[in-house]
Amino acid sequence: MSAVPAIPLYSPDLPPLPEARLRLLTELTHGLDAGALLYVSGYAAGLAAAQHQGLAPAHVPVQPHGASASLRATILYASHTGNGRRIAEKLTATLESQGLPARAVAAGDYATRELAQERLLYLVVSTHGDGDPPDDARAFFDFLLGRKAPRLEQLRFTVLALGDSSYPKFCEAGRIADERLAALGASPIAPRIDCDVDFDAAAAAWSDSALRHAAEALKPAGDAPRLSIVSPLRAAAPALATRDAPAVAEVLVRQRITGRTSDHPVTHIEIAAPADTLAYEPGDAVGIWHRNPDFLVAQIARALQLDPAMRVAHGADDHTLGEWLAAHREITRLSRPVLETHAALANNDELRRIVEGDADARAKLLRDWQFIDLLETWPAAWTGEALVAALRPITPRLYSIASSRSEVGDELHLTVAAVDYERSGARRVGAASYFLSSEAPELRAYIEPNTRFRLPDDSRRDIVMIGAGTGIAPYRAFLQARGAQGARGRHWLLFGARRFSSDFLYQGEWLAARKRGLLHRLDLATSRDQAEKIYVQHRLREHGAELWRWLEGGASLYVCGDATRMAPDVHAALREVVATHGARSADAAEEYLRDLAADRRYLRDVY
Ligand SMILES: Cc1cc2nc3c(=O)[nH]c(=O)nc-3n(C[C@H](O)[C@H](O)[C@H](O)COP(=O)(O)OP(=O)(O)OC[C@H]3O[C@@H](n4cnc5c(N)ncnc54)[C@H](O)[C@@H]3O)c2cc1C
Ligand SMILES: Cc1cc2nc3c(=O)[nH]c(=O)nc-3n(C[C@H](O)[C@H](O)[C@H](O)COP(=O)(O)O)c2cc1C
Repeated sequence: MSAVPAIPLYSPDLPPLPEARLRLLTELTHGLDAGALLYVSGYAAGLAAAQHQGLAPAHVPVQPHGASASLRATILYASHTGNGRRIAEKLTATLESQGLPARAVAAGDYATRELAQERLLYLVVSTHGDGDPPDDARAFFDFLLGRKAPRLEQLRFTVLALGDSSYPKFCEAGRIADERLAALGASPIAPRIDCDVDFDAAAAAWSDSALRHAAEALKPAGDAPRLSIVSPLRAAAPALATRDAPAVAEVLVRQRITGRTSDHPVTHIEIAAPADTLAYEPGDAVGIWHRNPDFLVAQIARALQLDPAMRVAHGADDHTLGEWLAAHREITRLSRPVLETHAALANNDELRRIVEGDADARAKLLRDWQFIDLLETWPAAWTGEALVAALRPITPRLYSIASSRSEVGDELHLTVAAVDYERSGARRVGAASYFLSSEAPELRAYIEPNTRFRLPDDSRRDIVMIGAGTGIAPYRAFLQARGAQGARGRHWLLFGARRFSSDFLYQGEWLAARKRGLLHRLDLATSRDQAEKIYVQHRLREHGAELWRWLEGGASLYVCGDATRMAPDVHAALREVVATHGARSADAAEEYLRDLAADRRYLRDVY
């Protein structure tokens, strides 16, 4: 048996875990009840005991933390849907495993005054909304772009920008951060990399170069004391599903919850979610890997006069063309490279003019058209190989979790709106929403934690939940959890839908909660029940005085649903409410909302 050195499990001088792991631990234990906490503590004690008995402990040397900024790499991530967070955490773990001092920090948790002390900064930034940074990173961007930003001559940095080339402002937030850091005097280690949604290879190359640079820049302090920690990979830990290794979850219930007359059908889905693979909390989302619709695969093959049974090799993979299109490639969302290649192949003047000279028309096409629309409008001859090489790898879709374990046990509920519309008389569907509403008996799923959209720790705090359409989903989870907690705080739901009779999602449950006294206020805004359109922002203004009282009483505000129109309109209405009822100027009202967001009392999950 190999000798196992005595391990200082806790020393007052050295934090016992690297920051990234401390963060994971905090996330893991947040909100657990006493029984669950005891289980975690017993689990860790068991690991430590096994390590002392020499049972396959894996020692990973790490530098003690508290290293000064000059000796440490900061991997700062501005991420909304988790891609950037995963890249940053992976890079941090790799640096740590090489004995290089590093920390991963969410932009929302970053103390901006530290920027002036940083020496080595790896920034991972995604773009959301319409070319905006993620909500969580707004304060960081305000600081960086504002007048108080310090000169940064001492800083070396590199930016990995995440985005989606079907958006007109591709990787905009990453570009802005990159240019601003350079303008403040910081020196780039390497040029920024802009990644499309198939970011794995580019992110790996960026991380490799970051690692190489850090190995040179951060000389491991040979004499410094080192800690050993148990690698979670080697411990017999329960395997939480991940994006790359999703769980296969049985579908238990699939039920349409909009009325027959609704022109916007929504399906409620329940899946089996054992806590050891699909652990979640209210506010989290579930990632679902879908298969593309068979009828669409057949349409594309027909339009290209290609045989779906033909074999196509690409990289190390070899599938039939049909299987590539059904399971491995994005065929509903267009990307700029596909559009440009198609324009070259189609050799059509109109399309060439749009792609090369008309930015608005190109943006509209990228947003609203599917690949099949291109093929049918401007035919082009693609080979199977060229097609598989050009189309982006399929990506999972996220759905807000509409349940709380405290109410549903080992289940997970989601609320899915059908993307189902016509273009030139032909039916078009969204790939994942179609798949979810079809008969598939199982789904491949993983949890995307959203620590930025959580219930307040103090259950006496009031909450105001504002949303439209499927934006209601997390509020169902919130109310279930608060009901189970016996929360003393009040609950106010402001919900927007098209029609009361057909689109008031989970109507029975909200009305029952109202009757039980769990839901204290309910305000509906229906846009098509009367001549004039009424949206949630109208209700906010109408009940502004009451809303102001709730806010001044410490309520937390949540906004969920459409990012394009609803979230900005709601924000403008909130600003008006604060200005009118709080007797403030528009600027001071904006400042009030910014402070509220910084206090985690104005939280948004918009998409
Ligand atoms: C954090 C987060 C949480 C989310 N939560 C939910 C949720 O709770 N419920 C939910 O339903 N969705 C939710 N979404 C959205 C969801 O992830 C998918 O984007 C949505 O289901 C559409 O995906 P799809 O694969 O069906 O459509 P896609 O295949 O991605 O879209 C097909 C294409 O059709 C076109 N198109 C799409 N819609 C229309 C339209 N209405 N008219 C014309 N053309 C159109 C566009 O060209 C689009 O690229 C969430 C997203 C995020 C980021
Ligand atoms: C609602 C929404 C809006 C988006 N807007 C943009 C955009 O304007 N420009 C862009 O390049 N990418 C945009 N994206 C794509 C994201 O940047 C991309 O999915 C990225 O990988 C997300 O990284 P994250 O998970 O770290 O947030 C958008 C994504 C969503 C869900």
